[in-house]
Amino acid sequence: MPELRENEQKTLLTLEKLKGKAPVDQIVKRSGLAHAAVMRASLSLTENKLLRTYEKQQTLTSLSAEGRSYAEIGLPERRLHNALIKLGGEAKVNSVVEEAGLEKKFLSVALGWINRKGWATIKQGMLKSLKEAPPGDDEKLLRLLSEKESVIVEDLGQELQKTVSVLKGRKLVEIEEKTLRELELTDDGWNLVKKGIEVQEEISQLTPELIRTGSWRKVKLRKFNVKAPGPEVFLGKIHPAQQIIQHVREIFLEMGFTEIRGSIVQTAFWNFDALFQPQDHPARDVVDTFYLAHPEKGKLPEKDVVEAVAATHENGWNTGSRGWEYSWSPEEAKRLVLRTHTTATTIRYLSEHKEPPVKVFSVDRVYRNEKLDYKHLAEFHQIEGIIMDKKVTLRDLMGTLKEFYHKLGLEKVQFWPSYFPYTEPSMQSTVYVPELKTWVELCGMGIFRPEVLAPFGVKHPVLAWGGGLERLILLKLGIEDIRLLYKNDLGWIRRTPVCQR
Ligand code: PHE
Repeated sequence: MPELRENEQKTLLTLEKLKGKAPVDQIVKRSGLAHAAVMRASLSLTENKLLRTYEKQQTLTSLSAEGRSYAEIGLPERRLHNALIKLGGEAKVNSVVEEAGLEKKFLSVALGWINRKGWATIKQGMLKSLKEAPPGDDEKLLRLLSEKESVIVEDLGQELQKTVSVLKGRKLVEIEEKTLRELELTDDGWNLVKKGIEVQEEISQLTPELIRTGSWRKVKLRKFNVKAPGPEVFLGKIHPAQQIIQHVREIFLEMGFTEIRGSIVQTAFWNFDALFQPQDHPARDVVDTFYLAHPEKGKLPEKDVVEAVAATHENGWNTGSRGWEYSWSPEEAKRLVLRTHTTATTIRYLSEHKEPPVKVFSVDRVYRNEKLDYKHLAEFHQIEGIIMDKKVTLRDLMGTLKEFYHKLGLEKVQFWPSYFPYTEPSMQSTVYVPELKTWVELCGMGIFRPEVLAPFGVKHPVLAWGGGLERLILLKLGIEDIRLLYKNDLGWIRRTPVCQR
């Protein structure tokens, strides 16, 4: 016979007192042990054949709030009938209602039931009692439930079980399914408790005291049961989208980039003008861009830079370009926007870091005035990067992007000519997604135009790229509806595996 632990001894002794068989809850109450302690003890005692465990599904029913009030004041049909009797057995519905003190909203229910139960008839606004109405099963059950917290449905007779469903239909009772665990002493168990168990206190934690005084030699130390199941724990988990964002960050870091971040609110100057986007460019329209109402405007950078940007827009300044040939407005450039792309962050960084080499990236939120649907959100993420060095070329840009995509597990990459106001040449990259058997557009890219670099005094070529991240997230997670990312659907979040590297 294996040595018993304290909680096992106590569980056996409590069961003895309860005549050898009892539900776990009762043992918990009687022994003073924690529920988990009894469950653990029962597991090893069952293993040692001292106990048997039974499991039973039980349906518990208890009064709802409405049911509790009816148990006190009576069902509406009962109140109506009582009032009717008081008025001599026949009276106008209105007078009966008044006599009963019944709220209007319960009237149709009360009339319905009084009719169904055959207590009275209604004709031309007159209510007429048909018979004495002894308390029905529903009222008996209400009474019973008001005396007890809950009742086990299976213990009720068939008729009353039916009544439970009727009351449930009237929303007067609530139903709860429960598993009842019962423990029973086996013959071996009985023999053991009959021989007498002396509960020996166990120490579950060694203290400095026990060690210093040497009394640890004498006390009984509780053994670990390494087979005992632990409670189910739902660990905190990083949202799948955040996991992918983190993955993207790590890839950039591996490739030797440094992360930069910028503020979400930017002046139109940094979001558009500094990137040589003309002030009448359609993307600047309120249809595409969120403008701030309070405050409406921000500050422009130092005068030289602003003048250079203005001149570049108007006539090309010293860049050899003709510019956009319109009159540039500093007021338009001061307007505050929620950045529409993270290129606002990189150009701003560049304006303060003109010396090569520069190799930075950003993964951040951007905003566009989009109609929301399963493919579009007004708030989303972009990945963005720039490389500035003395001798970098378009080949380097394509190579860098290829490496980035490869690290994300996207093997086939294609580059297409494209257009952005701030790059020349400009390209679009598409990647092949085997699971979808299709090509998907990801980052746009190019080499910043002299019209972008000259006003900030940047002398070396700058490779730039950027694009939305959500499409990549959807691909990686194998989902189609972008809104799922923001639904806080815990089931989906739990099921979605941790990003694999
Ligand atoms: N800003 C562009 C976009 O939002 C992407 C891009 C970044 C293109 C840098 C070229 C260079 O789609």
